[in-house]
Amino acid sequence: MIILDKVSKVFQLEAGSYTALKENSIHIRKGEFIAIMGPSGSGKSTLLQLIGGLDLPSYGSITVDGVEISKLNEIERTIFRRTRVGFVFQNYQLLPMMTVAENVSLSLAANKTPKADIKTKVQRLLQDVNLADKENHFPAQLSGGQQQRVAIARALAMKPKLILADEPTGNLDQKNGKDVLQLLSRLNKEEQITIVMVTHDRQAAEKADRIITIQDGEVVQERLEGVELR
Ligand SMILES: Nc1ncnc2c1ncn2[C@@H]1O[C@H](COP(=O)(O)OP(=O)(O)O)[C@@H](O)[C@H]1O
Ligand SMILES: [Mg+2]
Repeated sequence: MIILDKVSKVFQLEAGSYTALKENSIHIRKGEFIAIMGPSGSGKSTLLQLIGGLDLPSYGSITVDGVEISKLNEIERTIFRRTRVGFVFQNYQLLPMMTVAENVSLSLAANKTPKADIKTKVQRLLQDVNLADKENHFPAQLSGGQQQRVAIARALAMKPKLILADEPTGNLDQKNGKDVLQLLSRLNKEEQITIVMVTHDRQAAEKADRIITIQDGEVVQERLEGVELR
């Protein structure tokens, strides 16, 4: 599903250049649930942004679901992101002035889904995340866990085969965090959606099939079915 071949990311700063990722080669199979762990500033979010086509690598190639995204131009990458990847962020990133239903319908509308279909699709998505009764609420009227479930419904709208989640439980209490994890886990098992999740939470990471650890921009450890790889 995801192949990174010697991927580096160098940021140009006023003070000089900064290497956030150093020659990482990573393979992730279809249907895998991956947790990415590592200290703050180690490059986890940068890695996720590269996989999702939000940014380009400085060196190396990235192939996602058969598409070499590191070769796409900006417009092609935008279309790739909108149609093939679901993003979930720590702070949910819902639009506060829009209702739950409107937030979930945004990507459908952006991808020119017929208006008549949008309403039924949104209702179904909200049922899937157990929020059918909240469609006319605004994000601020929901708990953090509920907001994150709205964000997951939004991420699912285009039926992506890949979900990228950057510390999705980072702002949630134990109970809500557990619900969100369970939802991701169910999507992985029942819909075979590949999930790459950055997390600080060891317990959350244990839900994954495999943990990839990053330190100072380098993958230092990959645990695969109990075997330590390097
Ligand atoms: N757009 C950027 N410009 C410059 N430096 C950046 C940028 N994005 C991230 N970095 C730097 O790259 C390193 C890794 O960042 P990040 O991927 O956000 O780490 P993590 O998610 O593991 O906490 C950090 O030192 C950060 O300051
Ligand atoms: Mg981060």
